[in-house]
Amino acid sequence: MKKIAILASGSGSNAEKILEYLKDSTKAHVTVIGSNKKDAFVLERAKKFNVPTFTFTRSDLESGLLTEKLLSLDIDLVVLAGFLLKIPKDFIRAFPEKIVNIHPALLPKYGGKGMYGMHVHEAVKAAGEKETGITIHLVNENYDEGKVIFQAGVGVLETDSAEDIANKVHELEHKYFPNVIESLL
Ligand code: GAR
Repeated sequence: MKKIAILASGSGSNAEKILEYLKDSTKAHVTVIGSNKKDAFVLERAKKFNVPTFTFTRSDLESGLLTEKLLSLDIDLVVLAGFLLKIPKDFIRAFPEKIVNIHPALLPKYGGKGMYGMHVHEAVKAAGEKETGITIHLVNENYDEGKVIFQAGVGVLETDSAEDIANKVHELEHKYFPNVIESLL
């Protein structure tokens, strides 16, 4: 059985879809969910699935404490599901090709520092894009620049608000992310 750790900073709707998708899997299970925010709703969602959770600080991430914890749990894949802190080099070296992130746009467009959550959808709207989408990629030392594993697009209407765009993108994420994760194991 492969072991997955999910790191998330916010609502955790993607984390929940992954938990649902894998709950009866014989191939992989979510061993733990970690958040850098004590009040992140993802921690509530995890309770429904009886998955252990923990919180950590930016300093735990940067000092290597988080890496040690995940190594001690024998984690096979680290899934970033709306995780907003930069992953340090030592963490990446400890889990080579084993950290996967989801980004709410068609990278390389709308990636990089400051491009997360609603900021991305507002930028897509402001630029008058006709299409946006999702990118699932491996994590390397630069924000949003690791090897792309999967992309899917969706049309943007002139009348769509940034919230409408966010909803369309979330739908795509929920549809594809769990499956792509499973295929990586
Ligand atoms: C998702 O749309 C994810 O792509 C995005 O945060 C949202 C989290 O939603 N991630 C980033 O912007 C990372 N740069 P969720 O908490 O409901 O899963």
